[in-house]
Formats: sequence, C-alpha cells, structure tokens
Amino acid sequence: MSNKISPEEFYDNHATKYDDIIKTPKSNVQYLNEAVKIFHQYNHYQGSILDIGCGTGLLSELLQGDFEYTGIDISAKMLDYAAKRGYKTIHKPIEKALAEIDSHSYDFVFCLASLYFIEDAQLVFEQIYRIARKTILITLIEATDEYIKNHIIRVYDHSKMVIKNAVEDYFIIAWSSPTTGIPIQTRMVYIEQKN
Ligand SMILES: C[S@@+](CC[C@H](N)C(=O)[O-])C[C@H]1O[C@@H](n2cnc3c(N)ncnc32)[C@H](O)[C@@H]1O
Repeated sequence: MSNKISPEEFYDNHATKYDDIIKTPKSNVQYLNEAVKIFHQYNHYQGSILDIGCGTGLLSELLQGDFEYTGIDISAKMLDYAAKRGYKTIHKPIEKALAEIDSHSYDFVFCLASLYFIEDAQLVFEQIYRIARKTILITLIEATDEYIKNHIIRVYDHSKMVIKNAVEDYFIIAWSSPTTGIPIQTRMVYIEQKN
C-alpha cells in the first residue's frame, strides 16, 4: 500500500505557504534565478510564455520585460495565486493540457520543477517541442532512489534524459531539503527551436 499523496492534494494544502517556503534562505532555492539568468542572457524580453506546472506564477515576478503568461497546473489553489499575478490559467494535468494546445502557439515554454511528477517525460517533451516557437527552458530534478522513496508525492528521475542540441545543459543545486538540509540537484536545459 502506498502512503503517497497526489500532487493536487499536496499543492492545494501548501499554496498559501508556497512562496514563503521558496523565498526563505533555508530552502536555498537556486533553479528559479538560474532559469531567469539563462533566459535573459539570450536577450528575451517580450512575447508569450507557457509555464508548465506554473504553481503560484513566481516566474512572472522574476522575469524582466513584457510577457503574456499562460500557466498549466493541477492545483486550483496554486493557480489562484498565478491568476492574481496576471496568468491565464489552465487547470488540468500537464499531459492532458498539452495535448489540447496548438502547435507553435507560444514563443517560450518553461517547465520548472514540475516534470519530475510526470511518469512519461518523453511524451511531455515531444509536446513541448511541438508547442514552442522560440525557446524551451526546463529543469530536470535529480530524484535519487532515496528521494523517490521518501517524497510524499510520487516522483520520477528524468535527469539523465537524452536531449540533443541543447544550447545550455548543466547541473546546479535546485534547493536544499528544508528538513534534512540535503541539497537536491537539477539539470538546467535551454533549447532554441530551429525554424
Ligand atoms: C515544485 S512546484 C513548481 C512550481 C513553479 N514551476 C515554480 O518553480 O515555482 C510543482 C508544481 O507542479 C504542479 N503539478 C504537479 N504535477 C502536476 C501534473 N501532473 N499536472 C499539472 N500540474 C502538476 C503542482 O501542482 C505544483 O504547482
């Protein structure tokens, strides 16, 4: 019998605290600022963004420029915060939502700290490729066997996925476990679409 809970239940319960947890120095969250750094390094300051597993829409607080945000998330409570930040919201599981989105319909697709909840990352990846016009920025959290066992939500390790032609592809510390202090690694991947 599994004692795991669904991401929907977990994030609905944590929505009010989420931003504080991310911002507290103890969490040592690095992937968000790193994503922003990569994105601006390539001079993107305008366009449409699809934020997959957008949570509270924190990304929009960090990016500089003029963007239209659409966010997909399974947690209605997290999406309430994203909506307050100006997001158009899609309240559906990632796989279902992506399948319904037109090809080449967003300039930029972000998928930050959410792909590790998805079993078939390859399928999601193919959809992201289909939808993004210009660039893709994803983080692939390294979920060790220990991490998978102890996490309250079912998570999967996609950090070794083969990704060809990435412009940026390297590991950093994503965050540190608030309970154990153990750093969690993530792969940062930035892809430019060839048109
Ligand atoms: C760790 S949070 C990351 C949020 C945001 N991307 C950020 O970096 O602050 C993961 C988010 O993914 C969402 N999520 C998890 N599994 C999902 C699924 N199958 N479909 C849609 N959203 C999902 C959760 O509800 C949560 O808001």
